[in-house]
Amino acid sequence: MVRHFLDIHRLDAADLRAILDDAHARKRARKGWPQGRADADAPGKDRVLAMIFEKNSTRTRFSFDAAIRQLGGDSIIATAADMQLGRGEPVEDTARVLSRMVDAVMIRANDHEDVERFARVSTVPVVNGLTDRSHPCQILADLMTIEEHRGPIEGKTIAWIGDGNNVCHSFMHAAPKFGFHLHVACPAEYHPDLRDLEKGGAHVHLTSDPREAVKGADVVVTDTWVSMGDQDYEARLAAFEPYGVDEALMAEAADDAVFLHCLPAHRGEEVTDAVIDGPQSLIWDEAENRLHAQKAVLAWCFGAF
Ligand code: CP
Ligand code: NVA
Repeated sequence: MVRHFLDIHRLDAADLRAILDDAHARKRARKGWPQGRADADAPGKDRVLAMIFEKNSTRTRFSFDAAIRQLGGDSIIATAADMQLGRGEPVEDTARVLSRMVDAVMIRANDHEDVERFARVSTVPVVNGLTDRSHPCQILADLMTIEEHRGPIEGKTIAWIGDGNNVCHSFMHAAPKFGFHLHVACPAEYHPDLRDLEKGGAHVHLTSDPREAVKGADVVVTDTWVSMGDQDYEARLAAFEPYGVDEALMAEAADDAVFLHCLPAHRGEEVTDAVIDGPQSLIWDEAENRLHAQKAVLAWCFGAF
């Protein structure tokens, strides 16, 4: 069976835990090394990762490129617009061709279904690098960051404040797999997709009250109010106005609560400068951990553990 990494709810809890453990171990093992040196075990040696981007990216693009190099492999990057995909070549035909040329494919797509279609015919592992529906790689980096600073994720409470978007969906998928509690505070008109909410089961509590969500939480997370592809900018800004994360809201969380944001951030909208640049914020470790977590994802896809 080809090991795709499409969504957190599709993987076994044991595999997910192994991926997170591998990410921690890889980060520790190369502390102080130059970024271009390969890990000692080089599980991506002789492997090529293709990356296809239909949307903009800084972190995902650079972290996957650095990741495959540190695993001992190489990369090919293209935007969908530069490919025949952008002129209407079917996703399935693209998948069949790339399967003959590379060892894994990471895709950032507008439509989640396109990644599913690609994976259905791909004979090499496919990794979801964000879709309109989910962003599973981001959540692994976030959980890794929490564990680095606050210990095991199991039993912790995470408060998601703002849009019930792709990143929120992946947090909901992860909650039962890793055994944490997730409090989601969204305006009613921008709640998460109910199919994704269902996957979180009893681990997820949905409310429209940000104060209720952060009460006693170990982690407070937010994201942009206007994701790539969203059109209704003005309506969103109005609806999300009570959902900004500021110092007053952080004060309702646990005393040692940490703040996360996948970035890019819109300071003054979903979060104030004082919080995102303040002592509780772990955003730079979180961004770095995209690299370590994705190395573990790729190593798992290649069957290294
Ligand atoms: N967090 C994240 O995925 O960032 P990019 O859009 O820059 O890849
Ligand atoms: N929710 C955001 C995440 C960006 C990394 C978006 O989809 O634009």
